[in-house]
Amino acid sequence: MALIVKQIKTGAMENFTYIIGCVEKREGAVIDPQEDLTEVLESIKALELNIVYILNTHGHADHVAGNAALKEITGAEIVMHEGDRDRYPDADVYLTGDMHTMLGNIEIKAVHTPGHTPGGVCYYAEENLFTGDTLFVGDSGRTDLPGGDRPKLGESIRHLMNTFSGDTRVWPGHDLGSMEYSTLDWEKSNNVNAREYGFFVPFEI
Ligand SMILES: [Fe+2]
Repeated sequence: MALIVKQIKTGAMENFTYIIGCVEKREGAVIDPQEDLTEVLESIKALELNIVYILNTHGHADHVAGNAALKEITGAEIVMHEGDRDRYPDADVYLTGDMHTMLGNIEIKAVHTPGHTPGGVCYYAEENLFTGDTLFVGDSGRTDLPGGDRPKLGESIRHLMNTFSGDTRVWPGHDLGSMEYSTLDWEKSNNVNAREYGFFVPFEI
């Protein structure tokens, strides 16, 4: 695989930060950096990556806490969706829809997935989907906070399931499930809200 994926668990809320990168060009991105950057910085060094993007899945504090410090160290551009500008006003790039960009030789797609917040984004690269608080292993993000919208979240998750292959690996924003990652196929059958997304297949004897 030409894509590097490193999952790092930090913080009091079981958050996952991810480092992704292009094996050939050694360009990388950090998804949702936390306040404690120790392990992230060690891993960036060990992986010999030049970090060019800080990609935020949304603007909640527990997903952006490390943005400023990591930008200071790496010079990377902070990317966030326009819909969460009022939650985090200091990004360099505000996405206004789906977006494609390159990380070395790797194509990254940003997919707008509102519902947990209006500016929720999932990032896709080479059959890996970084879902933030849109989709957890076995569950999905809460929608009772300001800007949350339950039907929109269901629609966003249905869109992901209809767009990407079932083998696509799901990398969530928090470690709240029975395992650290899953696949879209696994979520179609096992997610507690799978029926809502239209994919639940009842077990038949
Ligand atoms: Fe959140």
